[in-house]
Amino acid sequence: MTQKEVLEKLWKRGCEFLGTEKAILGGAMSWISDSDLVAAISEAGGFGVLAGGALPPELLDKWIKDTQSKTKKPFGVNLITMHTALDTLIDVCANNKVSHVVFAGGLPKTESIAKAKSLGMKVMCFAPATIIGKRMIKAGTDALIIEGHEAGGHIGPVSTTILAQEILPALSQQVPVFVAGGIGTGKMMASYLMLGASGVQVGTRFVCTHECNAHAKFKEIFIKSSARDAMPTVQVDPRFPVIPVRAITNEGSRKFMEIQTEIVNKYKNGEIELKEGQLQIESFWMGSLRRAVVEGDIETGSLMAGQSVEFVKKEMSVKEVIDELTDDAIAELKFYDGLLAK
Ligand SMILES: Cc1cc2nc3c(=O)[nH]c(=O)nc-3n(C[C@H](O)[C@H](O)[C@H](O)COP(=O)(O)O)c2cc1C
Repeated sequence: MTQKEVLEKLWKRGCEFLGTEKAILGGAMSWISDSDLVAAISEAGGFGVLAGGALPPELLDKWIKDTQSKTKKPFGVNLITMHTALDTLIDVCANNKVSHVVFAGGLPKTESIAKAKSLGMKVMCFAPATIIGKRMIKAGTDALIIEGHEAGGHIGPVSTTILAQEILPALSQQVPVFVAGGIGTGKMMASYLMLGASGVQVGTRFVCTHECNAHAKFKEIFIKSSARDAMPTVQVDPRFPVIPVRAITNEGSRKFMEIQTEIVNKYKNGEIELKEGQLQIESFWMGSLRRAVVEGDIETGSLMAGQSVEFVKKEMSVKEVIDELTDDAIAELKFYDGLLAK
């Protein structure tokens, strides 16, 4: 068995589930995963996922149609479970014959999973712990994504390596499990496949691609940054909760610390109500990812990125990124070749 055949064997289940040549999902990234990037990922043999989460139904309909005009290959749509029009968004996906939906931003209700499946779509959900993965499988999900602390954007507390060791042995026999967060090289991809993953989900590595429409300054800062620059937001006081987001540190993140401290002090001095302070903190980053990605405001915008930004060295085509990950994984599999052939 050649090393290439070993890789094909390892991610066969993932490829069959996605309907692709390679079991690499391009994780949905708000304001970034548009029809150009998604179509390019699917055309290169991976599986693009549209960031449909925050879109109104008419716009999602347009984005799906735009993507379909650019590729005949399968792609998915990421839907945010707390969207007030979630049911309508599921209908929009079904009416456009989308093959897969990914429910993100919280656990979906059993009814949402059932609805998507009854309309002929495959469903993927995130599992931040084994117990939740089991619940999602019971609720009918067809596959799981486990995403660790290293990832870009909203993050959970546990690292990808721990989640993989915890969840893959427990659940990967039941449904295909895709691993996300901190995958910057094919070596890492091969390792998770060896642990039982059916495939991987990659976000950060796709930002600096020719097909990605993010602002040039946003891409430039990815190229300049190292893993150490992509840090989680810090919460100053537990009474003022902060949703953890991993992003490249900038003037905005420094200001966020200052503002939290100011608000906590005002609260202590009785100058502000708890609720009002919480609201001010919550709304600090509102619209900031859009500002960074679309307008190129890299000083105060949110520069969401994973630690895998370490491996973003230059702008490449999507195909080059996917081929590099694949070739690197194949090279890595020399260690396992003999074992698997038996
Ligand atoms: C800029 C940015 C925006 C993101 N937006 C979303 C989103 O809207 N929905 C979602 O489910 N995940 C989102 N993610 C997470 C990605 O889909 C993916 O799981 C993650 O990037 C994987 O980790 P990596 O960045 O180390 O490759 C985002 C990630 C980044 C870097």
